[in-house]
Amino acid sequence: MHAIAVGRDDRTPRVVERDPPTPASGEALVRVLRVGVDGTDHAVIAGDHGGFPEGADELVLGHEAVGVVVDANDTDLDEGAVVAPTVRRPPAGGPNPYFDRGEPDMAPPGGYVERGIDGADGYMAEYVTSPAADLVELPDDLADYGFLVEPVSVVEKAFELAAAARSSFRWEPDTALVLGNGPLGLLAVAALTDGATTAGHYDTVYCLGQRDPDHPSVRVLDRFDAAYVDARDTPLAAFADAYEPADLVVEATGHPPHAVESLDALAPNGVAALLGVPEGTHEESVPLAHVHRDAVLSNKAVVGSVNSNARHFRAAADALADMDTDFLDALTTVAPAFDDPAAAFREDETTIKTAVELATYEER
Ligand code: NAP
Ligand code: BGC
Ligand code: ZN
Repeated sequence: MHAIAVGRDDRTPRVVERDPPTPASGEALVRVLRVGVDGTDHAVIAGDHGGFPEGADELVLGHEAVGVVVDANDTDLDEGAVVAPTVRRPPAGGPNPYFDRGEPDMAPPGGYVERGIDGADGYMAEYVTSPAADLVELPDDLADYGFLVEPVSVVEKAFELAAAARSSFRWEPDTALVLGNGPLGLLAVAALTDGATTAGHYDTVYCLGQRDPDHPSVRVLDRFDAAYVDARDTPLAAFADAYEPADLVVEATGHPPHAVESLDALAPNGVAALLGVPEGTHEESVPLAHVHRDAVLSNKAVVGSVNSNARHFRAAADALADMDTDFLDALTTVAPAFDDPAAAFREDETTIKTAVELATYEER
């Protein structure tokens, strides 16, 4: 079968040949339909994030997948079921409490491998196997957009952690600010305005970016009741004065100063959820006394959030089912998998998010 991989020496995504995998006991065989590409994939390809499987010179890419069960093996799954696989798997070794509890997303660095990212082959292959417990069943009509369940689940987890950090008192948020108009930021806006999400209802949603208004990733915001803020005119530190303080900030830029500037954008009792994964270093002087005083005197919280578990996938499937398909169409550019695999990872001015198509639902 064909798969798309990067090598240690040649980091250009290319087609490789692999034997189709055989499911072990407790695993099912899945025919992959579509795999999404995100900022993390670009960091993996550049060698800035993740790593190769132990002893391997290639990594099969892809961690945002949707597929169809073609061999349920000895599992309870139904053949033909549409599924989205979770990303983390236990590292080699003994019992692992995080995985045993169904909370692999809370395992510390080094306590997991991530398929398509770090230490385990991903889902850009015609067929993959997975433990049934790590395959989340989706309604059939999510066959086209089910690759978005993984990134939406990341957003759902962030909402959950943010709300948990405000759960000791009556928190009634109504203003949210999303930082970044990349795929993750736009999905956060969609979830906050359209989706039946863990976040609840917000009256006012802003999205901060640094593109011109005619860029597709800004134009798509017109579909929502969300106001675009151009960071080149209003940097994050000036947001609260220029607009209004936000009860919730969701950071999806990976721009390191945003970790601190988010506090300035928050209303008293607000919370910022950080999702971006900056690469390299960034040094800047910060008015620490102000940051510290403001966080304390206004009861502000900042939470970091990475990855997601099966519960977040199920919440994401609900949220995704509620999202406007015109938005999902505008967000997604579908690319054939094997003609020119590197093309799917080339950034251009018209593409917001690429979905690599390995098979259609009709071909299953
Ligand atoms: P992306 O495509 O790189 O999107 C980042 C967006 O932020 C882009 O639209 C970028 O705009 C914008 N941006 C960057 N710096 C900015 C600034 N100073 N002011 C305003 N906008 C700014 O990445 P993504 O796939 O949407 O993911 C977002 C981040 O989350 C990445 O760092 C990714 O690695 C991380 N991530 C984390 C998790 C997790 O589990 N925590 C999961 C998925 C992704 P331009 O393109 O115009 O520069
Ligand atoms: C993935 C997460 C993963 C994180 C860190 C994100 O793009 O969506 O599942 O944990 O990268 O590698
Ligand atoms: Zn991702």
